[in-house]
Amino acid sequence: MTANPVAGDLAGLSPSAVSLRGSWDDLPATVVAAIESHVGPVERVEPARDGYSSHVAATVSSGRCRVFVKGLRTDHPAAVAQGCEVSVNPFVVPLGPRLLWRVEADGWDVLGFEHLEGRRAEYRAGSGDLPLVAGAMTELGSVAGRKAPVPRAEQRWAPYLTGPAQERMVRGDSLLHTDWHHTNMLVTPGGQVRLVDWATATRGAAWIDPACWVVWLVYAGNTPHTAERCASLVPAWGAAEPAVLDAFAEVLARYWRYVAEHHPNRMTGELRDASERWAAYRRSPGPVRP
Ligand SMILES: Nc1ncnc2c1ncn2[C@@H]1O[C@H](COP(=O)(O)OP(=O)(O)OP(=O)(O)O)[C@@H](O)[C@H]1O
Ligand SMILES: [Mg+2]
Repeated sequence: MTANPVAGDLAGLSPSAVSLRGSWDDLPATVVAAIESHVGPVERVEPARDGYSSHVAATVSSGRCRVFVKGLRTDHPAAVAQGCEVSVNPFVVPLGPRLLWRVEADGWDVLGFEHLEGRRAEYRAGSGDLPLVAGAMTELGSVAGRKAPVPRAEQRWAPYLTGPAQERMVRGDSLLHTDWHHTNMLVTPGGQVRLVDWATATRGAAWIDPACWVVWLVYAGNTPHTAERCASLVPAWGAAEPAVLDAFAEVLARYWRYVAEHHPNRMTGELRDASERWAAYRRSPGPVRP
């Protein structure tokens, strides 16, 4: 989920109320022609069911291939995310879909990815997808992404860190996805999890990804206790000092509070509540904690 810079009081509205999503027909003819130079004449366009941070997101079929296309107008601040997807891609394939081409024309930045067959992961307690997602996160932990040109954790969360000690705390060389929304985890028919939407890839301490996942798990209806049990399937979580996780829970609560305040909608409000619930759980004394 990328926060959409939409102003106004939208509290209580559905996430789609702040969607950037338009349609394939918004693309100028020149851009469609450039896309067709890669894929051949487009025969079918199926808009993505999930996500809302791109102006165009769709599965596109031609006589010779099927690709996933994600495009933004370059005059929108969210367009910087395209550069991040491009930079990180060579490091994350095959966990993520391969980037096939990029079209930058007529005020648009459009990416064509390998199309993945799969359904979104199910995050409810007891779901068989949870260990699969933890497995994909563990696999990402072993990717050599030290050289990936993506923002560093201490830059990404700078406004929410309390000082140099917290900057040192989040620093690291692990390549992180950070956006563990269940719609970004595609479960393939073969039972593999593939990760899409690398717009907010970040380099930092290895425990950051399982910590970010906890908020999404609580948002999906898990208790903080159950959410942490899922996170503990990822080795990096167990290697983190409890005090570090306590502090980062507060960082994420500050971050989501900011997002909910500045981009108000039902989803950001629920994410703020989920992150506050987790931070409160980490603050609570022994008996409540496992
Ligand atoms: N390579 C792919 N193959 C098949 N489906 C994909 C692929 N990439 C993304 N999708 C589907 O399209 C949806 C939207 O894509 P993505 O999350 O990358 O874009 P977005 O709308 O910009 O993101 P956000 O979730 O930040 O609003 C995903 O949730 C996923 O269901
Ligand atoms: Mg997404």
